[in-house]
Amino acid sequence: MTAAIPDISFRGVSKRYGDVLAVDRVDLDLPKGAFVSLLGPSGCGKTTCLRMMAGFEQPSKGDVFIRGDNVTGVPAFKRPVNMVFQHYALFPHLNVGDNVSYGLRQRTPKPPREEIAKAVDEALSMVRLSGYGQRRTWELSGGQQQRVALARALINRPAVLLLDEPLAALDRKLRHDMQIELQNLQRNVGITFLLVTHDQEEALSMSDSVCIMKDGRLVQIGTPRELYDEPVNGYVADFVGKSNFFAGTAGRAHEGLIDVTLADGMKAAGRASKSTARPEQGSLVLVSVRPEQIRLVAATGDLPNGVAFRAEARVLNRIFLGEQTEYIVTHERLGDFMVRSPRQGNQATAFEIGDRVAVGWSPDAALILAKE
Ligand SMILES: Nc1ncnc2c1ncn2[C@@H]1O[C@H](COP(=O)(O)OP(=O)(O)OP(=O)(O)O)[C@@H](O)[C@H]1O
Ligand SMILES: [Mg+2]
Repeated sequence: MTAAIPDISFRGVSKRYGDVLAVDRVDLDLPKGAFVSLLGPSGCGKTTCLRMMAGFEQPSKGDVFIRGDNVTGVPAFKRPVNMVFQHYALFPHLNVGDNVSYGLRQRTPKPPREEIAKAVDEALSMVRLSGYGQRRTWELSGGQQQRVALARALINRPAVLLLDEPLAALDRKLRHDMQIELQNLQRNVGITFLLVTHDQEEALSMSDSVCIMKDGRLVQIGTPRELYDEPVNGYVADFVGKSNFFAGTAGRAHEGLIDVTLADGMKAAGRASKSTARPEQGSLVLVSVRPEQIRLVAATGDLPNGVAFRAEARVLNRIFLGEQTEYIVTHERLGDFMVRSPRQGNQATAFEIGDRVAVGWSPDAALILAKE
């Protein structure tokens, strides 16, 4: 069986603007029908990647493939790809219907009027705006305008839709509604989606896979779960969810675990991430422990079985989160760290600010990651 040909592939793609290397040797495959997110801090090259996929920019190096064909150098209007821009702009002088049909009306030969009207109706119905065709754009809410921008891209029936932070301007509630709508839309229409976002929760909750970028490079690509449980380095662990990091030096490896000497000679052990090679003995590492993996008991209490690391600490702050309580505890040598404890019985919070506590974690919950 041959693997399906990806809708879009990058092979060694770089983009240079003068002194700035905006995208640096990126290899990437967008599987057909997938929902992929591109996540990374401002300026890391996300928009530039999208623009090269859409054909608005050409790579300085490397090749872009669409469904197996090398399209490097092929202009945007000849690619089966549509982009919804970071700062979407509807044409203010056109009503909703004319905004949506814009792409079709630019075609030569221009499709017949009835065909355009039918396509507009279909596109508006996909984004749940049936009957809004005659509205002026300023008569719409932010979310509705965003959906018009989507319909304007969908009417071209692209194989791939590139969405550059389409939800950034929306308030929390609307953003959440639109996230669900985007997911439904993608499932129903079967188009490959690439979504750029700043928002890690958005990326994790919506996508089949997530690409993490930093300084023009693709650091890791994986399912949300892979990125969370098996990050390649501290950057990914920090970017995807919350984690505590303790710097140390890798020691001996035994029985699948690695010993680490932390600050002031404290000892810990953990496992290497499955996504990367085991850190070498003597190398600088970060021990990464997720807040929900840290066990918290009274200073006089016993930690559960299987917990191999114990440190005495003091509660600095606590935040009630319903089913969980989030504590910030401080240790004289390890510094502050975050613990998330599930609610026990009817007790909303088990510890008060100032309480002496003991924290620990099992070696399986501690990831030993290379320090960059
Ligand atoms: N046309 C251009 N000319 C010169 N430099 C550019 C150009 N476009 C982008 N850059 C630079 O390339 C880098 C990547 O920019 P890009 O727009 O891809 O980032 P981004 O990840 O989309 O950021 P943001 O999250 O802020 O939108 C930045 O340093 C940016 O200043
Ligand atoms: Mg951008």
